[in-house]
Amino acid sequence: MIHLRCAGSGKPILFLHGFPLDSRMWLPLIDPLSSEFLCLAPDFRGFGENPEERFSFTLEDLANDCIRILDARAIRQPVAICGLSMGGYVAMQAVSNWPERFSHVILTNTRAEADSLETRKRRIELANRVFCSDVPSVAAPMLSNLLAKPAFPENMPIVELVQQMMNETKTSTFAWSQLAMAERRDSRLPMSRWTQPVLCIAGEEDPITPPEVVRAMSQHATQTTMVTIPGTAHLSPLEAPDRFAEKLFQFLRD
Ligand code: MLT
Repeated sequence: MIHLRCAGSGKPILFLHGFPLDSRMWLPLIDPLSSEFLCLAPDFRGFGENPEERFSFTLEDLANDCIRILDARAIRQPVAICGLSMGGYVAMQAVSNWPERFSHVILTNTRAEADSLETRKRRIELANRVFCSDVPSVAAPMLSNLLAKPAFPENMPIVELVQQMMNETKTSTFAWSQLAMAERRDSRLPMSRWTQPVLCIAGEEDPITPPEVVRAMSQHATQTTMVTIPGTAHLSPLEAPDRFAEKLFQFLRD
């Protein structure tokens, strides 16, 4: 059974978290959105409150889990899906495989193309390294790329939450996810066949998926809106939940 956070009622939105994080990253956004929508935020297998995964998994497995979550709640109507970074890769697989299950697609701080050979090699090294060391020390250098202003005192609660999520990521989950991302398929061609409206969101200061990468992704879908959130890096919904919520309300109400 996959751990799922649920709040609110109305049209369902499925929120898919990034790496190495969990569904807690959506809490500040779920707060305003749950006044109008049924917010469903799973922890991917092995992440958050789910038990350790003994066996490796693919992003396709994670996409299948999303469909199982909807089926288990008897949600047959098409839902909105919102994925950040790794969650975006999973969302792209889910929409490409089961287009009839999704009405709106929100892709934030993510990219459509598969990994280069170099990035795949780096991921395999990272997966090996985490087994020889531990998650907190391998994940620590990632923090400065995730948040725009980690050193600002007013951002301390966000920094602490991100560190907590990173440090609590299980070793095997960390490694399996890197291998799963390395093996993911390219979503550019499947995206061009989507008929749903797509909202692509970038963080102005995101060094991992900069606005130009998100813009390039947006051009593969036919009905796209592209927005950039100023003053945010890779975790825009956590860094600027109010501005992010405003964009979502606008997109979903339209
Ligand atoms: C994420 O935030 O989920 C990661 O940056 C995704 C990745 O490593 O490609």
